[in-house]
Amino acid sequence: MKSIPPQAQIQTKLLRWFKQNGRDLPWRKTKDPYAIWVSEIMLQQTQVATVLLYYEKFLKTFPTIQALAQANLSKVLKVWEGLGYYSRARHLHKASQIVENDWNGKIPNNLKDLLNLPGIGRSTAGAILSIAYNKEAPILDGNVKRVLSRLFAVSEDLKKSETIRSLWQLSESLLPKGKASLFNQALMDLGAMVCIPKDPQCLNCPLCEFCKAYASGKPERFPLKTVKKKIPHFQAVSAVIVRNGRVFLRQRPLKGLLGGLWEFPNWNFDGGKDLKEYLRLKVKSDLGLEVKCREFFGTFEQTYSHFKVTLAAFHCDEVETDRKGRWFSINQLRLLPMSRIDRKIAESLLMVSK
Ligand code: ADE
Repeated sequence: MKSIPPQAQIQTKLLRWFKQNGRDLPWRKTKDPYAIWVSEIMLQQTQVATVLLYYEKFLKTFPTIQALAQANLSKVLKVWEGLGYYSRARHLHKASQIVENDWNGKIPNNLKDLLNLPGIGRSTAGAILSIAYNKEAPILDGNVKRVLSRLFAVSEDLKKSETIRSLWQLSESLLPKGKASLFNQALMDLGAMVCIPKDPQCLNCPLCEFCKAYASGKPERFPLKTVKKKIPHFQAVSAVIVRNGRVFLRQRPLKGLLGGLWEFPNWNFDGGKDLKEYLRLKVKSDLGLEVKCREFFGTFEQTYSHFKVTLAAFHCDEVETDRKGRWFSINQLRLLPMSRIDRKIAESLLMVSK
């Protein structure tokens, strides 16, 4: 009798394991390519547990590609707020408009056209093609890289493009015909639940008998660890400028880190100077506002993928100078003493703003 090749056994065992142990996730209850696409974008760089807090709200707010394409970006960013890596939201929004305009609202079902959409790399494209369209497309996200590098004891550096190329080949070679959707999701779940970075649960692994890393006795040594670069730590100052119950915020440029989000104006600070004086000068030169920096508001800290920042915030009051005038609500104009000509302007303004 011909023996079954290990590849077929791996497929059978993993699919059987997935049937019994696969996670019950909301994006697995739908066949809608749009909903699957949204889930895959959210799952880039973000754990399932966090995505669960956002996924359904996002789809309730933007139930279709058309709804997303027609929404304005700040609403999309608002629903994304807290999920991080905001360029994903901007790209998703832009891509929805491309799909609406160029593809008649239907998400492409081939690799080439998917890769042309912003925010979709090869692994996300593979996930969409396999899960939404059951096409035989491989995936290679972080979890799958770990699973495959253990299964085949890949001892080369994962930062090298040749290593990544061979992992793609392995991922492709394992795909069972007609079952790519289940198989890819099974690989993802195995990586998230069993073949985890520390303390892999080899005794609960359906692929243990085929795993070269397990056979080596030190499965957690795979994939090869590369030395992580230490990220820089910046100090910054921020101004909390409140006037008449209103707060002054600044919108970040659309492109780049946290693009399009509103922020309390802030500046990196190299030390060595008077913090409040530095803040006052920055507020003046960059925002054109004369302020007095008052008491300390608090210290805030955040770690991003490439740096960490510690920010000291101060209450600031806008200084009302004799020369510069002041701010008034339009209704207040009636109450102020004015010359005839200014009264005419004020009356016109009151008329047009009624
Ligand atoms: N990570 C990336 N895509 C995923 C999916 N569809 N299910 C679970 N984890 C994932």
